[in-house]
Amino acid sequence: MTNTSASVEGKFPGWHAPVTGHVRGAEIRVTGLTHRYRHAKENALQDINLRIASGEAAAIIGRSGCGKSTLLHIIAGLVKPSVGEVTINGLVIRHPSPRWVMMFQQPSLFPWASVADNVALGLRFNGRQSEAKSRVAELLDLVELGSYASRNVQDLSGGQQQRVALARSLALSPEALLLDEPFSALDTFTRSTMQRDVRRIARELGITLVLVTHDINEAALMSDRAFIMAAHPGRIRNEVTVRSADTLTGAPGFEQAQRALIEAYEGAAGRSISSPSTDWTI
Ligand SMILES: Nc1ncnc2c1ncn2[C@@H]1O[C@H](COP(=O)(O)OP(=O)(O)OP(=O)(O)O)[C@@H](O)[C@H]1O
Ligand SMILES: [Mg+2]
Repeated sequence: MTNTSASVEGKFPGWHAPVTGHVRGAEIRVTGLTHRYRHAKENALQDINLRIASGEAAAIIGRSGCGKSTLLHIIAGLVKPSVGEVTINGLVIRHPSPRWVMMFQQPSLFPWASVADNVALGLRFNGRQSEAKSRVAELLDLVELGSYASRNVQDLSGGQQQRVALARSLALSPEALLLDEPFSALDTFTRSTMQRDVRRIARELGITLVLVTHDINEAALMSDRAFIMAAHPGRIRNEVTVRSADTLTGAPGFEQAQRALIEAYEGAAGRSISSPSTDWTI
């Protein structure tokens, strides 16, 4: 740990950015990070160094077991690294915070509660109940569930439930959204809508995105930059600039991004990846 970085403590008093206003995205720095799980024979991560700029969308891609989730959990403050540190806007990460929130594959909603109550939960737990009414309505509009506020979450489709989880994550105005394969349980159509919407919302709100994925198309669609990881031990093998401006699937920008990622992945893996279709999962 460096002495120059302040530690993150407490509940961040005074930090109440408006939900749909522009927040200062987080600048994330990972420095000299190595991690070995207890009783493991090798390091899960080895000497990771990276910087993600404020408001940038970064993808972390690589094969199963290369340490993607471990890296994301360390960035989120859920796992303490063996060596090295992560800073977010200069603060050393030592525990989770509503300022950098994770979204998982399963939305983990409270099944007995309504859509609005699920979105309001984070505010309630953080003593910000009074803001819930206006914020929840605003957030549900943002994720296009404005007319679902009083519905029970069990009555919603998988994609709609992920939108509720997204609204709940956004309720606390995070500076960074950390996504661990959040759309892989969704059908193709719902997945591509969610990919575009999350990218759009993050861009509109100025939130830094870190996206873990196996799916090159998802990285091509959503990220500005991608880090390609290799396993045993988990390390960054390559880094590629995907784009400087947003584009949609089918536009030349998407194909260029896809090609850049495939080339970077093949360069890192030392072999070509062949795909019988347009489904570039690795
Ligand atoms: N809690 C744990 N205890 C011990 N070893 C672990 C633990 N979690 C992960 N590992 C090991 O660390 C390595 C990296 O795991 P991690 O879950 O980060 O990979 P991943 O890239 O996210 O894989 P996937 O794509 O399958 O989700 C693997 O070898 C895994 O077995
Ligand atoms: Mg994982």
